[in-house]
Amino acid sequence: MTGISFKSVSMAYDGVRVVEGLDLEVQDREFMVFVGPSGCGKSTALRLIAGLERPTSGDIHIGARNVTQVEPKDRDVAMVFQSYALYPHMSVAENIAFGLKVRKMPADEIAARVKEAAELLGLQKYLDRTPRQLSGGQRQRVALGRALVRRPSVFLFDEPLSNLDAELRGVMRAEIAKLQRRLATTTVYVTHDQVEAMTMGDRIAVLAPLDRGKGRNLMQVGAPLALYDRPANVFVAKFLGAPRMNFFSAVSNGDRTLACAGLSLDIPTTYVGGSALAPGKSVLVGIRPEHCTLGAFDGRPGGFVVSGLVDILETLGHETIAYLSTPIGPIVAKLPAGATGLKVGENATLTLDDRRFHLFDPETEARLAERL
Ligand SMILES: Nc1ncnc2c1ncn2[C@@H]1O[C@H](COP(=O)(O)OP(=O)(O)OP(=O)(O)O)[C@@H](O)[C@H]1O
Ligand SMILES: [Mg+2]
Repeated sequence: MTGISFKSVSMAYDGVRVVEGLDLEVQDREFMVFVGPSGCGKSTALRLIAGLERPTSGDIHIGARNVTQVEPKDRDVAMVFQSYALYPHMSVAENIAFGLKVRKMPADEIAARVKEAAELLGLQKYLDRTPRQLSGGQRQRVALGRALVRRPSVFLFDEPLSNLDAELRGVMRAEIAKLQRRLATTTVYVTHDQVEAMTMGDRIAVLAPLDRGKGRNLMQVGAPLALYDRPANVFVAKFLGAPRMNFFSAVSNGDRTLACAGLSLDIPTTYVGGSALAPGKSVLVGIRPEHCTLGAFDGRPGGFVVSGLVDILETLGHETIAYLSTPIGPIVAKLPAGATGLKVGENATLTLDDRRFHLFDPETEARLAERL
């Protein structure tokens, strides 16, 4: 059983706080993704697990062991970096074998493990080449192979796909996720790419820099769709989803409706109400672009209808993204490819699905209480 726990972990570089009071559990065999904007401390958190950094306070456990004071080489973790960090003068086979050799593993055992990893990663043909003679994706596989042969208790990945082109990134994303399931090894994967986060992990931990997270790093942790459907705060709501969630300000009428730009909109029935929705209270309303449809609602009455000027149209083939200026502010809508009758510079009417509103407290930026 190899879970990982951060227990009230704080970390500062030269007195500058980067991680503050982080409490987080990664389950045995789980694929956990750390996602967040640049500088939020993702790599630092990963390096703390690896032992490449030491916390200023708090403890880190791997399995049953408190590893806070344990040397990196004794933590039984293998890390894959964005830069691959391959040895240029060694062959692929030697690169993969390197970590085993320094641990003085018998040569026949090393050969067997290298062969197995090469088969798993489709590298059999390249074992005698040097990294220079490989494509980016092949180099990335070698870096993976070097981690795999160690058969560690924990895999740590720091943005391993960011040097690859979009197509290869998609392929490797699926390969790493598949491999992780097959090996059933506890994994922490760092990325700033919300698509990788949504598609690869069993759970996602969304991290923020301390100044944007109001003194905390961990904004929310949970299954990808749980975070997408019920972001706990504005930070998570904005971070997951592209184009990102639309926001506009409204004021509660106190009768389960909100007033906004002279219009009235219904509050979804799941929201508890109470003091956060007392008459006159300001509310920040979020709506995802895919919950804004063109024209009147199909099939049911209701919805919140807004009209506005079409500023930009992105016709992507499989869908059209429309950017509108409306009385409630700018609204981005994700529309079906065939959405016709839209022209830049002309007016269009959108219906926002009032069952899909996300309500936040504008001060704390926390999601308002719901009864689910
Ligand atoms: N060795 C260091 N010395 C001083 N400050 C550092 C050091 N390493 C990182 N930092 C700072 O700590 C903060 C967190 O850095 P970290 O590398 O963990 O961010 P990250 O989330 O991985 O970002 P990115 O997505 O850009 O890789 C940043 O503000 C960074 O400037
Ligand atoms: Mg980083």
